[in-house]
Amino acid sequence: MAKKEVRASGPLRGDVRVPGDKSLSHRALLFPALAEGTSKVRGLQGGLDVRATRDCLTRLGVVFREEEGALLIEGRGIGGLSEPEVILDCANSGTTMRLMSGVLAGHPFLSVLTGDEHLIKRPMARVLDPLREMGALALGRREDTLAPLVFRGGSLRSLTWKSPVASAQVKSAILLAGLHARGVTWVEEPKPTRDHTERMLGGMGAKVFYEDGNRVGIKGGGSLSPIEMDVPGDPSSAAFWAGAALMVPGSDVTIRNICLNEGRTGFFNLLRRMGAEVEVKATHEAAGEPVGDVRVRYSTLEAIEVLPEEVPAAIDEFPVFGAVASIARGETVIRGAEELRFKESDRIEAVAGELAKAGVPVKTFEDGMAITGLAKLSPATFSSHGDHRLAMSMAVLSLAIPGGGVVEGAEAASVSYPEFWNTLATLSAK
Ligand code: S3P
Repeated sequence: MAKKEVRASGPLRGDVRVPGDKSLSHRALLFPALAEGTSKVRGLQGGLDVRATRDCLTRLGVVFREEEGALLIEGRGIGGLSEPEVILDCANSGTTMRLMSGVLAGHPFLSVLTGDEHLIKRPMARVLDPLREMGALALGRREDTLAPLVFRGGSLRSLTWKSPVASAQVKSAILLAGLHARGVTWVEEPKPTRDHTERMLGGMGAKVFYEDGNRVGIKGGGSLSPIEMDVPGDPSSAAFWAGAALMVPGSDVTIRNICLNEGRTGFFNLLRRMGAEVEVKATHEAAGEPVGDVRVRYSTLEAIEVLPEEVPAAIDEFPVFGAVASIARGETVIRGAEELRFKESDRIEAVAGELAKAGVPVKTFEDGMAITGLAKLSPATFSSHGDHRLAMSMAVLSLAIPGGGVVEGAEAASVSYPEFWNTLATLSAK
C-alpha cells in the first residue's frame, strides 16, 4: 500500500491543468460505441475508471484506434454490440457499471458485470428495477441488489420512471436503455443532477425532451451520429487545487480549461458562500458544455449550512469540502447528503473518521455531518479507505496541518487522477 507524506507548504501559486472530466470521458467512449460511424475524441481522462469502460467496450466488440493524440472509436450502432466471452470487469467504477447496465439491457445476449471489493457493495437495485420494468432480464446478487449483475435484454418497452434517488448514473442508465426501446422513455428525479448524458446524446441526434419538474425523456428507435470532441478538464479534480489554495495563506491558483456545467460547479458556489475569493470565468464551449477557468485565492472562511438542494451539484466534492470546513470559523452543517454513504466508500463515516484523526470536531447524521472549524490540527496518518477522493482530500487537509500528514492507500488517486501526487509536489515546491 502506497504511503505519501504531505508537509505543510509555502503558498501555492500558478496555473494548473487537470485531467479530462471523468463523467464526460465515460460517456465519450460509450455513446460513440452506439453511433453509426467513427468518432474522434481527445483529452480523455487516463484514470482506471475510464480505462474500465474502454476495456468493457473492447470485450463487447468495439474497436478503438489511437491516432495523433486522438482516440478513434468505431461505432456499432444502437443494439449492435457483440456478446462478451468473459465477465466484464468494471473495477472501482460505478459509472461504468450503471451506464453499461442500461446499454446491456438493450442487447439480447447474456452479459455479466462485476467490480472490485468496493463496487460489489454499492447499491444496484436503483438501476436493475427500472431495466426489469422495461422488459430486460436483470439480475444481481442478494435479491437483485448487488453486483455481480447478469443481463439478457433486447426488445425493451419504453418506461416512465420516477427515480427515488437523485442520481445521474441511474438517469443515464434508463435513458440509454430508452434508446433501445420503442416510444419515449421518461425519467423524473427528486433533484436535478448533472445532465451530460442528455446533452451529449441530444448532440448526437437523439430526440431528447425536457419537462418541468426535473423530467427528461428520450425517443427510442433512432440512430446516433458520430462525434468529434475535446473533453474539458474535470471540475471534481480542480476542486482539490481550489481546496489546497484555501489551506495555505498567500496561495493563488488558477485551474484552466475545466467543464463548467452547472450540475458540476456547486462546490465553487459553496466556497464563495463561505467567503472564499473564487472567480469562475467561462471562456468557450467544448463537447456541448461550457468550459473555462477557476481562480481561487487564499481567504479566511466562515462556516455555512449546506442545503439539500445544493448537494447534487457538489456530490463528489464533499471529501475535500470536509477539509475546507475544518479551517472555516464556526460549524459547517451538511444535510440531505445521504447518497454520500453509497459512494466509493461511505463518505460520511470515512470523512468524519479521517478529520477526527487530525483533531477536527465532527458529528455525523444519517444524511450528512457537522464540522467545527479552526480547532488545533495535529499531524495524523490518514487512510484513503480505498477511495480516490478521500486520498486526495486528506492530502489537501495535510497542507494546513503544522507538521503535515501521511496518506495511506495513496494509490487510490489513480482511479481519477494518476498525476495528482506529482502535481501536488510541483505546486507545493514552487
Ligand atoms: C456520475 C454521477 C454521480 C457521481 C459520480 C459520477 C456520473 O453518481 O457521484 O462520480 O458520471 O453520472 P450518482 O449518479 O450515483 O450520484
